[in-house]
Amino acid sequence: MKITENDLIFLRSELQKHISGKRLAHSLAVETEAMALGKLFGFSEEILLKLRCAAILHDITKAKNTDEQIRLCKEFGLPVSDDDIMSPKVFHSLTGAHVAAKLYPQYVDSEIFNAIKYHTTGRADMSVFEKLIYLADYIEETRDFPDCVELRRYFYSAEPTKEHLDRTLLLSFDMTVRNLLNEGCAIHRATVEARNFLVASINK
Ligand SMILES: [Fe+2]
Ligand SMILES: [Fe+2]
Repeated sequence: MKITENDLIFLRSELQKHISGKRLAHSLAVETEAMALGKLFGFSEEILLKLRCAAILHDITKAKNTDEQIRLCKEFGLPVSDDDIMSPKVFHSLTGAHVAAKLYPQYVDSEIFNAIKYHTTGRADMSVFEKLIYLADYIEETRDFPDCVELRRYFYSAEPTKEHLDRTLLLSFDMTVRNLLNEGCAIHRATVEARNFLVASINK
């Protein structure tokens, strides 16, 4: 089904039932950033609307605590891995994809589903669509964490080629892994796989 501007208005109002305040402002800023990135990469109007839909819905379960996240996983019959338990921030991506698909099946196709599912960890062999949601989440304009500012500056410092997009994502994974190491936290398998995949493809 083709997504329209009116569908996005509907989804933005729906989102307010799930998140508010800074989280809501962040999701709307991800929509703006994703649209800008999609245009840079020459996406059609139809795909831009899908990208904005994924951005609006990407943090739909972000307000839920870990217990609620695990309950949602059980409800959807999702196996919870040790990696997930050790990286609880990742749960909202997994549950978000399923909640979005359950509540709005008319909009959430597999491309949008996967962009939501992998927006926190990344994964090996991401599509450009997935990469743009991942990057928009990291560099949207309300984020002022030094790594976000650096990544935004890095991405916009060169021509928006797919190779530069990959180098930007690699830098983001390096930052994420470094922060997790500094904090003594576990590193999710999907992030390791995403980073390894980019290192291999960039060095080909
Ligand atoms: Fe998120
Ligand atoms: Fe987000």
